[in-house]
Amino acid sequence: MMGQVEVATRTMPGTEAEMIDRAAFSSEDIYRQEQLAIFAKSWLFVGHESQIPNKGDFFLSRLSTDQVIVARGNDGQVRVMLNSCRHRGMAVCRYDKGNAARFTCAYHAWTFANDGSLVGVPRSSEGYGGQLDRSQWSLIQARVACFHGSIWATFDESLPAFEDYLSDAALLLRDFLSGPDGEDDGLEVIDGISKWIIPSNWKFGAENMAGDLYHEPSHFSVERLGISLSGEKGRHVWDTVDSPSRILNVAYPAGGHGGRVTLYEKEGREYHSMWGLNPSVDEYFRNAHYARNERLGDRARFYNRGGSLFPNFSYNAAGRWSVSLWVPLSAGKTEVLRWYFVPKRAPQDVKDALRSYLLRYAGPAGMVEQDDTENWAMAQTGAALASAAQHPFNYELNRGKAQWAWPVSWLGDGAFVDEGVSEHNQRIFYAKWLSMMNGQGGGRPGVEG
Ligand code: FES
Ligand SMILES: [Fe+2]
Repeated sequence: MMGQVEVATRTMPGTEAEMIDRAAFSSEDIYRQEQLAIFAKSWLFVGHESQIPNKGDFFLSRLSTDQVIVARGNDGQVRVMLNSCRHRGMAVCRYDKGNAARFTCAYHAWTFANDGSLVGVPRSSEGYGGQLDRSQWSLIQARVACFHGSIWATFDESLPAFEDYLSDAALLLRDFLSGPDGEDDGLEVIDGISKWIIPSNWKFGAENMAGDLYHEPSHFSVERLGISLSGEKGRHVWDTVDSPSRILNVAYPAGGHGGRVTLYEKEGREYHSMWGLNPSVDEYFRNAHYARNERLGDRARFYNRGGSLFPNFSYNAAGRWSVSLWVPLSAGKTEVLRWYFVPKRAPQDVKDALRSYLLRYAGPAGMVEQDDTENWAMAQTGAALASAAQHPFNYELNRGKAQWAWPVSWLGDGAFVDEGVSEHNQRIFYAKWLSMMNGQGGGRPGVEG
């Protein structure tokens, strides 16, 4: 098995993977090893606290490929539990979401409270002689971390606490989860999770959203059509027109995480409307912009556009707030779970306008996402071509220009940054992938050669 992984990347001088064998995307052996070496050893996103505001609220999500119940118990605590009865493994919950004090298995009716404890067993006295120790047969629980509204889980007891695990990359996640006014915990989920299956490997989505600014040609048609609310052409709702800025690829090699960021040159920049078709939405974002400038000071120059936290969590920020979870079902099949977010303190008409925009943009019917999905499906076909197995994919774009903790200190010592159109973040992603596939927890790869 390890031999297959060693040929999966072809590292050039320096430590970062720059060529990836097609088998990394198409081999079922590599897929199975990823489950053990990566997904079982990472904190994974499962949802957002705004989905379960009340005691007894729950929804179904995925922890790697396993279905889990994410529930707020009667004690107010958030838990992540395998949706699998302890008697024969049947799913004890068959609703996507709801509110329940108990989950009763439909097979033999073992009943679990919303904290996972086994509270009801038919024929308990006659069949088990009253001897069944219920405390030993609770639903299987994961470790849980709540971070500014987001919920993460793992079954690995040896992993460090979530914030230590994330380290400096917490900046990207915390910023994403804040509102447009810069206040922490500023988002809420639009009810429900979109779930659909795409015919491609999970890594195509993760690496693309980590920082593929190179694929602009894919979206020419939707750029021409224009789906933003600016009244102009285009698909985005941020401006870079009147404010000098640079586009940075901010990667955190210790964890394999990376984000796409606009860094404005000057603090306190003016607001430029990108929501012109809807005056009340425009007013909301204008006020939020100045509130953010005031709240964050120099850090307001940082404008988070999106990224991927290793391994399978991707987010779009900057007015297109959504999260994709790439759930690997097989080497060539991925279930996508998509959460859409709006600022929770915004007026309802702003939330409504955003919901329309988000659904035009992303998800199975989103015009931008359809471009991407078509690419990844056809790339998957290419990854599986038997006659091309010896020809790897190329990840050399803009190689060798990254620097540590540059150009602003608050990105953190662990930030390895490069500028413009580049495959820097993908190289960092695959360096982490390779180190974990070879049984290492990570660490800090050296500077690019
Ligand atoms: S499988 Fe759940 S009660 Fe038997
Ligand atoms: Fe795209």
